[in-house]
Amino acid sequence: MAFQIHSLGGYLHEYQKSVADPEGFWEDIASTFFWRKRWDKVLDWNFEGPDVKWFINGKLNITENIFERRLYTHGDQTAIIWEPNDPKEPSTRITYKELYEKVCNFANVLLNNGVKKGDRVAIYMPMIPEAAIAMLACARIGAVHSVVFAGFSATSLADRINDAGVNTVLTTDGAYRGAKPLSIKPIVDEALEKCSSVNKVIVFKRTSEEVQMKNGRDVWWHEETAKVSSENKAEVMDSEDMLFILYTSGSTGKPKGVVHTTGGYMVYSSYTFRNVFQYEDGDVFWCTADVGWITGHSYIVYGPLLSGATVVMFEGIPTYPDAGRFWQVIDKHKVNQFYTAPTAIRSLQAFGNDFITPYDLSSLKLLGSVGEPINEEAWRWYHTFIGKGRVPIVDTWWQTETGGILISPIAGVTPTKPAFATLPLPGVQPIIVDAEGKELKGNGVEGNLCIKFPWPSMLRTTYGDHERCRQTYFSTYKNLYFTGDGVKRDEDGYYRILGRVDDVINVSGHRLGTAEIENAINEHTLVIESAVVGYPHDIKGQGIYAYVICEDLAKNQRTEKVLVNEIIETVSKIIGPIAKPDKIMLVSGLPKTRSGKIMRRILRKIAEGDGSNLGDTTTLLNPEIVDEIKVKAGL
Ligand code: WT7
Repeated sequence: MAFQIHSLGGYLHEYQKSVADPEGFWEDIASTFFWRKRWDKVLDWNFEGPDVKWFINGKLNITENIFERRLYTHGDQTAIIWEPNDPKEPSTRITYKELYEKVCNFANVLLNNGVKKGDRVAIYMPMIPEAAIAMLACARIGAVHSVVFAGFSATSLADRINDAGVNTVLTTDGAYRGAKPLSIKPIVDEALEKCSSVNKVIVFKRTSEEVQMKNGRDVWWHEETAKVSSENKAEVMDSEDMLFILYTSGSTGKPKGVVHTTGGYMVYSSYTFRNVFQYEDGDVFWCTADVGWITGHSYIVYGPLLSGATVVMFEGIPTYPDAGRFWQVIDKHKVNQFYTAPTAIRSLQAFGNDFITPYDLSSLKLLGSVGEPINEEAWRWYHTFIGKGRVPIVDTWWQTETGGILISPIAGVTPTKPAFATLPLPGVQPIIVDAEGKELKGNGVEGNLCIKFPWPSMLRTTYGDHERCRQTYFSTYKNLYFTGDGVKRDEDGYYRILGRVDDVINVSGHRLGTAEIENAINEHTLVIESAVVGYPHDIKGQGIYAYVICEDLAKNQRTEKVLVNEIIETVSKIIGPIAKPDKIMLVSGLPKTRSGKIMRRILRKIAEGDGSNLGDTTTLLNPEIVDEIKVKAGL
């Protein structure tokens, strides 16, 4: 495949080229795509605004690069192999030609329902091909999709809809995930009570459970598709037109809408897909992420489909009907590249190897990991028992904001080391700084990870609030993009990601802000104040530990157990089950500085089970509270 690196020398050569002449480097790659009009200039940028533009005045449609560009050669090739939740339900295959027709058809449905270029469309759907079709149909007509993970609550969905001023929601009646069907449409109905901007909901029938259809607002997907043709002329988009918004958590309470634009995202997502995973024509690639996360956007939908790849899309969960499901699906579809999260690896490891033995995993050529640091033990188990010691592992570091993988081995090319994301991909210029922003040069250093030069798929803004984007990513260190991650560069120049250095925690690869969880906890009427920290968790990577001050329990007819359960329910209702605290400790106070700031460092140490290295606590406003908390924690 074009621009595929096949040797370490080739990597070093491409890397040097990309640093010496980034514009020439990306221009060559961008030239392999289909542009309605070529760009006038490759790049304009400053990180002060920030203001970053790639392929300026270039005109294109990303779906023409998936379909029209290759229909003659790839039309009959499978684009999506869909594996349903229930292994007894047949899987389906959709060719590029069929997918093209479905996307065009649904693009016409959107147009017919009044969706226009630039409108924001929320997609709240389970892992079915229609979710990908929905995304691509939006891109086809120039509408901006905002996919919301279907595990988020009605409140979270409503917040995201309102922030983006969404006018159309695409959803399903229900979903199958594991043993029992889940309701989806009722959650949308509840959310929309708080959303005045939405005037249309298009509902795909998946479970056939009975749902309320609001007259004039709600229509059925299958009825709408029958009304329109499968021919659609793609809208011509500017390279810097918005392609999608994806909400992600930060260190402040409210999730922000990360904005990705068209041209740069296209070039980078497919370039990294082809290189990191060494995808060859005819391979079957499986990324187990949900389309509700950036991993699903870049490595189920855009990167692979832009590369003419065959992808597996899986509706279910790793443990249904049993903990062998992933391995069964790899065997069934002869998967060549398998890309999943450390939390899934650790949880399947805990079920034992008997779930692997029945299956033939010899089709595998590569294993991938993403979303959180992979610990050495999990890395070795994955390598030995899934890869049979035979295939490379790519530990890929990136973020919602980066749009694509930034630091990662190139499969089979970059020598790997357990728990290391290894080296930056071509075009990526990492820099490590200390707390003051001073660059830590050379090897054997540890500090905060920043990027000093733009790459094509970086975020452009946070929707509706550019200042927030500047503040969050570009103000900590002058002229640098700050990732929020700590990193170590070892003696060999290899990068090892150490985890977040801000108030963000990573639970099973899902990113949550501590403030966001605290806000949810504080919604409980008996809660006075709370502080949330992350702590090491064997399976989830990080668990959620909440310290809560509440009103008198006896007076309010509650036992501690009842209140704790109520708090968990509250968080689940406000954010979603993924944000449920693992541990809640009721306390009479929180350690605070004299200026009233909560000393999270102390709470973090105690949550880790370390009561001895708390530092100087005598300067606290309330040092006695530390002892109380230590005693409660059994330290
Ligand atoms: C945060 C971004 C990238 C898609 C999934 C998560 C952590 C991500 C790795 C890795 C260590 C990793 C970082 C990052 N992270 N990949 N390979 N090794 N940490 O996207 O929700 O935007 O979260 O996930 O802390 O900042 P996200």
